[in-house]
Amino acid sequence: MTQSAPQQDAPLERAMRHALSLSAHGPLYGGNPQVGCVLVDSDGTVVAEGWHRGAGTPHAEVDALSRVTDATGLTAVVTLEPCNHTGRTGPCSTALIDAGVSRVVYAVSDPGENSAGGADRLRAADVEVVAGVLADEVAASIEPWLVAARRRTPWVSVKWASSLDGRAAAADGTSQWITGTAARQRVHEQRAQSDAVVVGTGTVLADDPSLTARGDAGELLAHQPVPVVIGTRPVPQGAKLRDHPAGLIETHSRDLEQVLAGLYGRGIRRVFVEGGPQLASAFIETGLVDEYLVYLAPTLIGGPRTSVGDIGVATIGEQRRLRITSIERLGDDLLVTARASAHSTGSGQAPSTSSGQASSTSERF
Ligand SMILES: NC(=O)c1ccc[n+]([C@@H]2O[C@H](COP(=O)([O-])OP(=O)(O)OC[C@H]3O[C@@H](n4cnc5c(N)ncnc54)[C@H](OP(=O)(O)O)[C@@H]3O)[C@@H](O)[C@H]2O)c1
Repeated sequence: MTQSAPQQDAPLERAMRHALSLSAHGPLYGGNPQVGCVLVDSDGTVVAEGWHRGAGTPHAEVDALSRVTDATGLTAVVTLEPCNHTGRTGPCSTALIDAGVSRVVYAVSDPGENSAGGADRLRAADVEVVAGVLADEVAASIEPWLVAARRRTPWVSVKWASSLDGRAAAADGTSQWITGTAARQRVHEQRAQSDAVVVGTGTVLADDPSLTARGDAGELLAHQPVPVVIGTRPVPQGAKLRDHPAGLIETHSRDLEQVLAGLYGRGIRRVFVEGGPQLASAFIETGLVDEYLVYLAPTLIGGPRTSVGDIGVATIGEQRRLRITSIERLGDDLLVTARASAHSTGSGQAPSTSSGQASSTSERF
């Protein structure tokens, strides 16, 4: 039978915190979550560490087991319930049983349709199972993946860059540049942490963006999210997006829910919506935004091109109140991160402020 996590079991919590810190070495993108694992002996000494390096590579438990010659009698402390299915790698529950571990401690249950059930399998093999150690902290660290897995649509981050008076472009449609180099470099990092970058056809036609994730010297970063264009108009033949290294998904649709479900079916778990205003407004109006990333520049543009248009708010009682989770300074600009307040796995993070460093690139994004 699964036991609840003992409230004051400091060695287990310490080991779980260690596993959580290891998990952060793994990538945020891809179909799998960040997972960390430590093997500890009966004194609580860590004898091996492991973490998951992304889809298709060994899971954290298997990675840790590969670093000991004999795991008999050890405790495996892992941030996510060991999986129970054979995908690109074998079931971790079986690997732990075969290795002879006597106890498995995990933080968060696996919500996966095919992968859940590892704890039951371990218990059936007489392995002691302790669930829920540091569950809230671990759940917060993999919130986008957990939300996507439970909902079966990707986690949606919507980003826009705006003047202090809330404009996304000048009256003639030009918008390069509103923010400075440090902010734009952060956008490239956020792209590289996503599975897909999403834009409307209006932005493609107005800006001809390349939507690659690039470093501060302009070099392509190792991971390139696939660009997705939403809207009925076609992407022009000569558009830069047609040369994107990750390919191109043209949806030929305005049905956002259907598009998101289709992206999930392709293994996409995190999407980064980069606008423009009409598409961002449609995502907001349909209640599909999990996280807002709003870059604010100390400049005034005025005029009609607001960052967000009609989002279905006719009277002040219908306004969409958000919860700010962080405010960062990036050069002269601010990045305000906010969430819709309804997620059950909310991170509960206090607002934080940090200084960003100006980067040297002046490339477009
Ligand atoms: N400051 C920033 O962060 C930022 C970012 C991006 C763009 N921009 C600027 O924004 C301007 C372009 O703005 P935009 O609003 O025209 O571009 P947009 O939001 O990228 O594209 C609008 C188009 O998206 C399509 N679409 C897809 N799903 C939709 C839905 N559910 N509801 C409504 N439309 C949907 C429609 O095209 P179809 O007719 O093809 O169906 C619509 O015309 C440019 O000036 C660009 O420079 C600024």
